[in-house]
Amino acid sequence: MSEPLIKTQDLRVEFPIGGGVFNRRVMTAVDGVSLEIPKGSFFGVVGESGSGKTTLGRALLNAVPIASGSAHYDDGELQLDLANMSPKELKAYRRRAQLIFQDPYAALSPRMTVRDIIAEPIEIMKLTKSRAETDDRVREIAAKCRLNLEHLRRFPHAFSGGQRQRISIARALACGPQFVVADEAVAALDVSIQADILNLLKSLQRDLGLTFMFISHDLSVVAHTCDHVAVMYRGKIVESAPTRELFANPRHAYTQKLLSAIPSLEIAD
Ligand SMILES: Nc1ncnc2c1ncn2[C@@H]1O[C@H](COP(=O)(O)OP(=O)(O)OP(=O)(O)O)[C@@H](O)[C@H]1O
Ligand SMILES: [Mg+2]
Repeated sequence: MSEPLIKTQDLRVEFPIGGGVFNRRVMTAVDGVSLEIPKGSFFGVVGESGSGKTTLGRALLNAVPIASGSAHYDDGELQLDLANMSPKELKAYRRRAQLIFQDPYAALSPRMTVRDIIAEPIEIMKLTKSRAETDDRVREIAAKCRLNLEHLRRFPHAFSGGQRQRISIARALACGPQFVVADEAVAALDVSIQADILNLLKSLQRDLGLTFMFISHDLSVVAHTCDHVAVMYRGKIVESAPTRELFANPRHAYTQKLLSAIPSLEIAD
């Protein structure tokens, strides 16, 4: 197995749930997670609704505070303690770690052209020196995401769900991240389009050498696409193994239950 890009130890995320000043009450959404996401992997996180998948992904993207435990990032060039970053480190990490949302309708501003949607993160991070350079970069990433370049001048409402998800993916990849969290990235799409988007994500991962954390409640999608699977249950990772191993020999009762709910599975190589 290759070196981990992300490594956590006993990671905990808590949310306040009312109570007064003196009896602060919290719910633990991520409850002592220790995991390693190998560099260049398509790492699946699966589990029922409310098990903490999104919260774990958001903690690794520094979008929710880490209550305790550790999380480290190491891409060979940059090493970060994700629980404790300076503003400068945070800025560097923002470029390297990105999120692809579930809902391609909500994620895209209706008043921006596709070109501007993809260009925005490049401009915010000041990665280019001129508009022409930004345009080149937008066209390059749009082509990689198999978007028709003629469509860059249009607005997102003109597109189908699958094409919108391609636009979201292009935006997420615009600033050249290393780590991408895809949170239920195909759940809102028709089954016929899901395979297209999954194939696109896999080919982008291979071509660009990305590391994906692929969050899904759908075990069959995970079995088809991920090379490693972590199963979450009530805030904990109850099992984590290479996909084939996990499906051939599920150890935890919850994983066995998840598996038995699916009649037959074809597993990715
Ligand atoms: N901002 C928040 N404030 C309070 N509680 C939250 C917040 N976000 C999540 N939670 C709670 O944390 C727990 C884990 O939620 P999370 O969204 O991470 O689960 P999930 O596995 O992604 O579920 P789903 O499959 O439905 O997306 C849930 O009990 C949820 O209600
Ligand atoms: Mg979720």
